[in-house]
Amino acid sequence: MKLRELTNINVAEKRILLRCDFDTPSHSFHNDLRVVSSLDTINYLLSKKSTVVVVSHRGRPKGKEEELSLFPIASYIATELKTSTHPVNIGEFSGWQVGESLLILENIRFFKEEEENNETFSRKLSALGDLYVNDAFASSHRKSASIVGITSFLPSYAGPRLILEAITLSKIIDSPKRPLTIIIGGSKIETKLPLVEKMHHFADYVLVGGEIAEQDKILLRIQHDRKKAILLVADVTPEKDDITQKSLENFIQVIKNSKTVVWNGPMGFLEKGKTFTTFRIAEEISDKVSYSVVGGGDTLSFLSKKNLLDDFTFVSSGGGAMLEFLSGGKLPGLEILSG
Ligand code: 3PG
Repeated sequence: MKLRELTNINVAEKRILLRCDFDTPSHSFHNDLRVVSSLDTINYLLSKKSTVVVVSHRGRPKGKEEELSLFPIASYIATELKTSTHPVNIGEFSGWQVGESLLILENIRFFKEEEENNETFSRKLSALGDLYVNDAFASSHRKSASIVGITSFLPSYAGPRLILEAITLSKIIDSPKRPLTIIIGGSKIETKLPLVEKMHHFADYVLVGGEIAEQDKILLRIQHDRKKAILLVADVTPEKDDITQKSLENFIQVIKNSKTVVWNGPMGFLEKGKTFTTFRIAEEISDKVSYSVVGGGDTLSFLSKKNLLDDFTFVSSGGGAMLEFLSGGKLPGLEILSG
Protein backbone atom coordinates (compact mmCIF):
# COMPACT_ATOMS: atom_id res chain seq x y z
CA MET A 1 0.00 0.00 0.00
CA LYS A 2 1.42 3.37 -1.02
CA LEU A 3 0.46 6.16 1.37
CA ARG A 4 0.52 9.87 0.50
CA GLU A 5 3.53 11.06 2.46
CA LEU A 6 3.71 14.31 4.35
CA THR A 7 7.46 14.57 3.86
CA ASN A 8 6.98 15.37 0.13
CA ILE A 9 4.88 18.45 0.93
CA ASN A 10 5.84 22.06 1.62
CA VAL A 11 4.25 22.78 5.00
CA ALA A 12 5.84 26.18 5.71
CA GLU A 13 3.35 28.84 6.88
CA LYS A 14 0.51 26.27 6.70
CA ARG A 15 -1.87 25.28 9.48
CA ILE A 16 -1.56 21.54 9.90
CA LEU A 17 -4.36 19.61 11.55
CA LEU A 18 -2.41 16.72 13.07
CA ARG A 19 -4.25 13.60 14.33
CA CYS A 20 -2.26 11.99 17.13
CA ASP A 21 -3.13 9.14 19.49
CA PHE A 22 -2.74 10.22 23.10
CA ASP A 23 -4.80 7.30 24.39
CA THR A 24 -2.50 6.15 27.13
CA PRO A 25 -2.99 4.69 30.60
CA SER A 26 0.43 6.03 31.53
CA HIS A 27 1.08 9.13 33.61
CA SER A 28 4.77 9.16 32.87
CA PHE A 29 4.45 10.59 29.38
CA HIS A 30 8.18 10.73 28.68
CA ASN A 31 8.16 6.91 28.52
CA ASP A 32 5.05 6.68 26.39
CA LEU A 33 5.61 5.81 22.74
CA ARG A 34 2.35 7.39 21.59
CA VAL A 35 3.14 10.71 23.25
CA VAL A 36 6.85 10.66 22.41
CA SER A 37 6.39 9.83 18.71
CA SER A 38 3.68 12.52 18.44
CA LEU A 39 6.07 15.02 19.95
CA ASP A 40 8.68 14.10 17.31
CA THR A 41 6.18 14.87 14.55
CA ILE A 42 5.07 18.11 16.24
CA ASN A 43 8.71 19.19 16.49
CA TYR A 44 9.29 18.31 12.83
CA LEU A 45 6.31 20.44 11.73
CA LEU A 46 7.26 23.34 14.00
CA SER A 47 10.82 23.25 12.61
CA LYS A 48 9.29 23.64 9.11
CA LYS A 49 7.49 26.80 10.29
CA SER A 50 4.00 25.29 10.34
CA THR A 51 1.28 26.09 12.82
CA VAL A 52 0.08 22.81 14.32
CA VAL A 53 -3.39 21.98 15.62
CA VAL A 54 -3.36 18.60 17.38
CA VAL A 55 -6.48 16.43 17.55
CA SER A 56 -6.63 13.27 19.67
CA HIS A 57 -8.94 11.13 21.74
CA ARG A 58 -8.26 9.53 25.11
CA GLY A 59 -10.22 6.58 26.46
CA ARG A 60 -13.85 5.95 25.65
CA PRO A 61 -15.70 8.85 27.31
CA LYS A 62 -19.47 9.12 27.40
CA GLY A 63 -19.71 12.86 26.92
CA LYS A 64 -17.32 15.09 28.82
CA GLU A 65 -15.35 13.19 31.46
CA GLU A 66 -12.82 15.35 33.28
CA GLU A 67 -10.46 12.45 34.04
CA LEU A 68 -10.07 11.85 30.29
CA SER A 69 -9.09 15.44 29.56
CA LEU A 70 -6.00 15.96 27.42
CA PHE A 71 -4.82 18.76 29.70
CA PRO A 72 -2.07 16.68 31.42
CA ILE A 73 -0.61 15.79 28.02
CA ALA A 74 -0.85 19.38 26.72
CA SER A 75 0.91 20.53 29.83
CA TYR A 76 3.61 17.84 29.47
CA ILE A 77 4.20 18.90 25.85
CA ALA A 78 4.44 22.56 26.90
CA THR A 79 7.12 21.62 29.41
CA GLU A 80 9.01 19.61 26.78
CA LEU A 81 8.88 22.57 24.39
CA LYS A 82 9.99 24.87 27.21
CA THR A 83 6.99 27.10 26.81
CA SER A 84 3.76 27.96 28.59
CA THR A 85 0.17 26.94 27.95
CA HIS A 86 -3.21 28.62 28.37
CA PRO A 87 -6.79 27.57 27.59
CA VAL A 88 -8.36 28.72 24.31
CA ASN A 89 -11.68 28.34 22.48
CA ILE A 90 -11.99 28.25 18.73
CA GLY A 91 -15.61 28.03 17.63
CA GLU A 92 -17.07 24.97 19.32
CA PHE A 93 -13.68 23.55 20.10
CA SER A 94 -11.73 24.18 23.26
CA GLY A 95 -8.12 23.34 23.98
CA TRP A 96 -4.77 24.83 24.93
CA GLN A 97 -2.45 27.18 23.14
CA VAL A 98 1.07 25.84 23.67
CA GLY A 99 3.66 28.48 22.85
CA GLU A 100 3.03 30.48 19.68
CA SER A 101 2.46 27.89 16.98
CA LEU A 102 0.86 24.87 18.64
CA LEU A 103 -2.71 24.28 19.69
CA ILE A 104 -3.90 21.06 21.33
CA LEU A 105 -7.64 20.41 21.24
CA GLU A 106 -9.51 18.81 24.14
CA ASN A 107 -10.39 15.08 23.82
CA ILE A 108 -12.24 14.88 20.50
CA ARG A 109 -14.40 12.00 21.79
CA PHE A 110 -16.12 14.45 24.13
CA PHE A 111 -18.19 15.05 20.95
CA LYS A 112 -20.34 12.06 20.03
CA GLU A 113 -20.08 13.14 16.36
CA GLU A 114 -16.44 12.02 16.34
CA GLU A 115 -17.22 8.31 16.52
CA GLU A 116 -20.28 8.73 14.30
CA ASN A 117 -17.96 10.04 11.57
CA ASN A 118 -20.45 12.89 11.22
CA GLU A 119 -20.03 14.90 8.04
CA THR A 120 -20.99 18.33 9.43
CA PHE A 121 -18.64 17.79 12.36
CA SER A 122 -15.80 16.71 10.05
CA ARG A 123 -16.31 19.88 8.03
CA LYS A 124 -16.19 22.08 11.16
CA LEU A 125 -13.02 20.36 12.28
CA SER A 126 -11.43 20.81 8.87
CA ALA A 127 -11.92 24.60 9.14
CA LEU A 128 -9.10 24.59 11.75
CA GLY A 129 -6.40 23.66 9.21
CA ASP A 130 -5.08 23.97 5.65
CA LEU A 131 -3.78 20.39 5.53
CA TYR A 132 -4.60 17.23 7.44
CA VAL A 133 -1.97 14.75 8.65
CA ASN A 134 -2.78 11.41 10.27
CA ASP A 135 0.04 10.22 12.51
CA ALA A 136 -2.25 8.17 14.76
CA PHE A 137 -1.63 4.62 13.56
CA ALA A 138 -3.20 3.31 16.76
CA SER A 139 -6.58 4.88 15.87
CA SER A 140 -6.54 4.17 12.15
CA HIS A 141 -8.82 1.13 12.44
CA ARG A 142 -11.59 3.51 13.57
CA LYS A 143 -13.86 5.11 11.00
CA SER A 144 -14.25 8.34 12.91
CA ALA A 145 -14.50 12.01 11.88
CA SER A 146 -10.91 12.95 12.75
CA ILE A 147 -9.53 9.87 10.99
CA VAL A 148 -11.72 9.44 7.91
CA GLY A 149 -14.47 12.11 7.58
CA ILE A 150 -12.06 15.01 7.64
CA THR A 151 -10.14 13.79 4.58
CA SER A 152 -13.11 14.81 2.38
CA PHE A 153 -12.46 18.44 3.24
CA LEU A 154 -8.67 18.88 3.35
CA PRO A 155 -5.62 17.70 1.38
CA SER A 156 -4.60 14.72 3.52
CA TYR A 157 -1.32 12.94 4.20
CA ALA A 158 0.24 10.20 6.30
CA GLY A 159 2.64 11.32 9.04
CA PRO A 160 6.08 9.76 9.69
CA ARG A 161 4.95 7.42 12.49
CA LEU A 162 2.06 6.13 10.41
CA ILE A 163 4.43 5.41 7.52
CA LEU A 164 6.94 3.65 9.79
CA GLU A 165 4.23 1.40 11.24
CA ALA A 166 2.77 0.54 7.83
CA ILE A 167 6.17 -0.29 6.32
CA THR A 168 7.42 -2.37 9.28
CA LEU A 169 4.22 -4.35 9.77
CA SER A 170 3.86 -4.95 6.00
CA LYS A 171 7.28 -6.63 6.00
CA ILE A 172 6.10 -9.04 8.68
CA ILE A 173 3.04 -9.94 6.65
CA ASP A 174 5.08 -10.44 3.46
CA SER A 175 7.87 -12.64 4.78
CA PRO A 176 7.51 -13.70 8.40
CA LYS A 177 10.02 -16.08 9.95
CA ARG A 178 8.08 -19.11 11.17
CA PRO A 179 6.82 -20.48 13.48
CA LEU A 180 4.92 -17.24 14.00
CA THR A 181 3.00 -16.80 17.24
CA ILE A 182 0.41 -14.15 18.04
CA ILE A 183 -0.30 -13.46 21.71
CA ILE A 184 -3.52 -11.64 22.53
CA GLY A 185 -4.57 -10.57 26.01
CA GLY A 186 -5.96 -7.68 27.99
CA SER A 187 -9.37 -6.09 27.68
CA LYS A 188 -11.23 -4.44 24.71
CA ILE A 189 -12.73 -7.85 24.09
CA GLU A 190 -15.20 -6.79 21.42
CA THR A 191 -12.30 -5.43 19.32
CA LYS A 192 -10.01 -8.39 19.87
CA LEU A 193 -12.33 -11.35 19.64
CA PRO A 194 -12.90 -11.10 15.87
CA LEU A 195 -9.16 -10.59 15.44
CA VAL A 196 -8.33 -13.85 17.21
CA GLU A 197 -10.38 -15.55 14.55
CA LYS A 198 -8.85 -13.63 11.64
CA MET A 199 -5.33 -14.47 12.79
CA HIS A 200 -5.63 -18.10 11.75
CA HIS A 201 -4.76 -17.12 8.15
CA PHE A 202 -1.50 -15.65 9.23
CA ALA A 203 -0.20 -17.23 12.44
CA ASP A 204 1.02 -20.72 13.34
CA TYR A 205 -0.02 -20.31 16.99
CA VAL A 206 -2.51 -17.98 18.64
CA LEU A 207 -2.17 -17.70 22.43
CA VAL A 208 -5.00 -16.02 24.30
CA GLY A 209 -4.73 -14.88 27.91
CA GLY A 210 -5.88 -12.10 30.23
CA GLU A 211 -9.46 -10.92 30.45
CA ILE A 212 -10.38 -12.06 26.97
CA ALA A 213 -9.50 -15.68 27.81
CA GLU A 214 -11.67 -15.70 30.89
CA GLN A 215 -14.77 -14.25 29.32
CA ASP A 216 -14.91 -15.83 25.93
CA LYS A 217 -13.21 -19.16 26.20
CA ILE A 218 -15.94 -21.33 24.78
CA LEU A 219 -16.76 -18.86 22.06
CA LEU A 220 -13.11 -18.60 21.08
CA ARG A 221 -12.76 -22.36 20.82
CA ILE A 222 -15.86 -22.73 18.70
CA GLN A 223 -14.84 -19.91 16.39
CA HIS A 224 -11.41 -21.39 15.96
CA ASP A 225 -12.48 -24.92 15.27
CA ARG A 226 -10.76 -26.45 12.22
CA LYS A 227 -8.77 -23.30 11.47
CA LYS A 228 -5.14 -23.31 10.39
CA ALA A 229 -3.36 -21.90 13.43
CA ILE A 230 -3.17 -23.79 16.72
CA LEU A 231 -5.16 -21.92 19.35
CA LEU A 232 -4.26 -22.09 23.04
CA VAL A 233 -6.64 -20.32 25.39
CA ALA A 234 -5.29 -19.89 28.92
CA ASP A 235 -7.09 -21.39 31.91
CA VAL A 236 -7.83 -18.85 34.59
CA THR A 237 -7.18 -19.44 38.31
CA PRO A 238 -10.24 -20.10 40.56
CA GLU A 239 -9.81 -16.57 41.99
CA LYS A 240 -10.14 -15.28 38.41
CA ASP A 241 -7.16 -13.03 38.81
CA ASP A 242 -4.46 -14.71 36.73
CA ILE A 243 -3.82 -17.45 34.24
CA THR A 244 -2.80 -20.80 35.69
CA GLN A 245 0.81 -21.93 36.10
CA LYS A 246 0.16 -24.78 33.65
CA SER A 247 -1.14 -22.38 30.99
CA LEU A 248 1.85 -20.11 31.52
CA GLU A 249 4.21 -23.08 31.05
CA ASN A 250 2.41 -24.11 27.84
CA PHE A 251 2.65 -20.58 26.49
CA ILE A 252 6.34 -20.36 27.32
CA GLN A 253 6.97 -23.62 25.47
CA VAL A 254 5.35 -22.23 22.32
CA ILE A 255 7.22 -18.92 22.64
CA LYS A 256 10.58 -20.73 22.96
CA ASN A 257 10.00 -22.47 19.65
CA SER A 258 8.80 -19.39 17.77
CA LYS A 259 10.88 -17.33 15.35
CA THR A 260 8.45 -14.42 15.29
CA VAL A 261 6.16 -13.29 18.10
CA VAL A 262 3.57 -10.52 17.92
CA TRP A 263 2.10 -9.52 21.26
CA ASN A 264 -0.78 -7.28 22.29
CA GLY A 265 -2.46 -7.14 25.68
CA PRO A 266 -1.34 -8.16 29.20
CA MET A 267 -1.52 -11.87 30.01
CA GLY A 268 -2.23 -11.60 33.72
CA PHE A 269 -4.83 -9.35 35.28
CA LEU A 270 -2.78 -6.20 35.79
CA GLU A 271 -5.76 -4.26 37.12
CA LYS A 272 -5.95 -6.83 39.94
CA GLY A 273 -2.28 -6.27 40.71
CA LYS A 274 -1.12 -9.53 39.08
CA THR A 275 2.02 -8.70 37.14
CA PHE A 276 4.00 -11.96 37.29
CA THR A 277 2.53 -13.68 34.22
CA THR A 278 2.86 -10.67 31.94
CA PHE A 279 6.40 -10.17 33.20
CA ARG A 280 7.38 -13.82 32.57
CA ILE A 281 5.96 -13.75 29.04
CA ALA A 282 7.87 -10.51 28.34
CA GLU A 283 11.10 -12.01 29.67
CA GLU A 284 10.69 -15.15 27.63
CA ILE A 285 10.02 -13.26 24.39
CA SER A 286 12.94 -10.91 24.87
CA ASP A 287 15.35 -13.78 25.71
CA LYS A 288 14.33 -16.41 23.18
CA VAL A 289 12.64 -14.90 20.13
CA SER A 290 14.66 -13.45 17.26
CA TYR A 291 11.92 -11.19 15.87
CA SER A 292 9.42 -9.73 18.31
CA VAL A 293 6.76 -7.07 17.93
CA VAL A 294 4.73 -5.65 20.78
CA GLY A 295 1.96 -3.06 20.83
CA GLY A 296 -0.98 -1.64 22.74
CA GLY A 297 -1.35 1.04 25.42
CA ASP A 298 -1.51 -1.18 28.53
CA THR A 299 1.20 -3.59 27.36
CA LEU A 300 3.63 -0.80 26.47
CA SER A 301 2.96 1.03 29.70
CA PHE A 302 3.74 -2.12 31.70
CA LEU A 303 6.89 -3.01 29.73
CA SER A 304 8.15 0.52 29.91
CA LYS A 305 7.84 0.52 33.72
CA LYS A 306 9.82 -2.72 33.82
CA ASN A 307 12.44 -1.40 31.38
CA LEU A 308 11.79 -4.27 28.98
CA LEU A 309 10.79 -2.37 25.84
CA ASP A 310 14.29 -2.15 24.38
CA ASP A 311 14.42 -5.93 24.11
CA PHE A 312 11.73 -6.04 21.41
CA THR A 313 12.58 -5.77 17.72
CA PHE A 314 9.72 -3.39 16.95
CA VAL A 315 7.46 -1.53 19.33
CA SER A 316 4.20 -0.61 17.63
CA SER A 317 2.08 2.28 18.87
CA GLY A 318 -1.01 0.31 17.79
CA GLY A 319 -2.98 -2.22 19.81
CA GLY A 320 -6.18 -3.20 18.00
CA ALA A 321 -4.90 -1.36 14.92
CA MET A 322 -1.72 -3.45 14.84
CA LEU A 323 -3.65 -6.72 15.11
CA GLU A 324 -6.15 -5.58 12.49
CA PHE A 325 -3.35 -4.65 10.09
CA LEU A 326 -1.49 -7.96 10.58
CA SER A 327 -4.65 -9.98 10.14
CA GLY A 328 -4.92 -8.51 6.66
CA GLY A 329 -7.82 -6.24 7.52
CA LYS A 330 -8.20 -2.89 5.80
CA LEU A 331 -7.71 0.07 8.14
CA PRO A 332 -10.06 2.90 7.07
CA GLY A 333 -7.54 5.55 8.14
CA LEU A 334 -4.85 4.06 5.89
CA GLU A 335 -7.10 3.18 2.96
CA ILE A 336 -8.25 6.79 2.72
CA LEU A 337 -4.64 8.01 2.46
CA SER A 338 -3.50 5.49 -0.13
CA GLY A 339 -2.74 6.22 -3.77
C1 3PG B 1 -6.17 2.13 21.17
O1 3PG B 1 -5.82 2.38 22.33
O2 3PG B 1 -6.12 0.99 20.68
C2 3PG B 1 -6.60 3.28 20.30
O3 3PG B 1 -6.42 4.50 20.93
C3 3PG B 1 -8.04 3.11 19.86
O4 3PG B 1 -8.88 3.15 20.98
P1 3PG B 1 -10.35 2.51 20.92
O5 3PG B 1 -10.21 1.02 20.92
O6 3PG B 1 -11.05 3.04 22.14
O7 3PG B 1 -10.98 2.99 19.64
